[in-house]
Amino acid sequence: METFGNNPSLNLRFKWKRVEALTMSNDHLIMKLNEALGWELRAINMYAHYAAYIRGIHRMQLEPHFTSEANESMVHSNIVRSAIVKLGGVAVTERNPMPIEHVSSYTDMLAQSLITETKAAEVYGELMPMIEDAGDADLYDAIEQIYLAEVRSVEELGRLVE
Ligand SMILES: [Fe+2]
Ligand SMILES: [Fe+2]
Repeated sequence: METFGNNPSLNLRFKWKRVEALTMSNDHLIMKLNEALGWELRAINMYAHYAAYIRGIHRMQLEPHFTSEANESMVHSNIVRSAIVKLGGVAVTERNPMPIEHVSSYTDMLAQSLITETKAAEVYGELMPMIEDAGDADLYDAIEQIYLAEVRSVEELGRLVE
């Protein structure tokens, strides 16, 4: 009687299924990374815009704040894009389509920032278990750093808008 391990056709089928499952989870991961990339590309525009338009005494602190957030989003987008390339995916070139509100008061700018950072923290929070499943330790460390930065931003903005 043929044993399970010696049956070449069965082995082939199981191997094929495993490869298919890996490819499917990879596609899913690339899609989620692209979602994060879209939000980072949007954040670059939004923060650069607010850095340019912030007026009054708050400009002294918020112009550097918004500029550094725009730069941080650029750094994050580069890390996420490189991960997509490494996984063999195609990185998005368009930002997330959620409109960037042109507002003039600093409280509105901070409220918009909080919405954006909350969304980013949510997407990276969804990415973490997916990367854990994929078993890529380097990617996990890189994305975890971004995730923690977004969570810190949410907490800090929460205090600023109080
Ligand atoms: Fe970010
Ligand atoms: Fe952020």
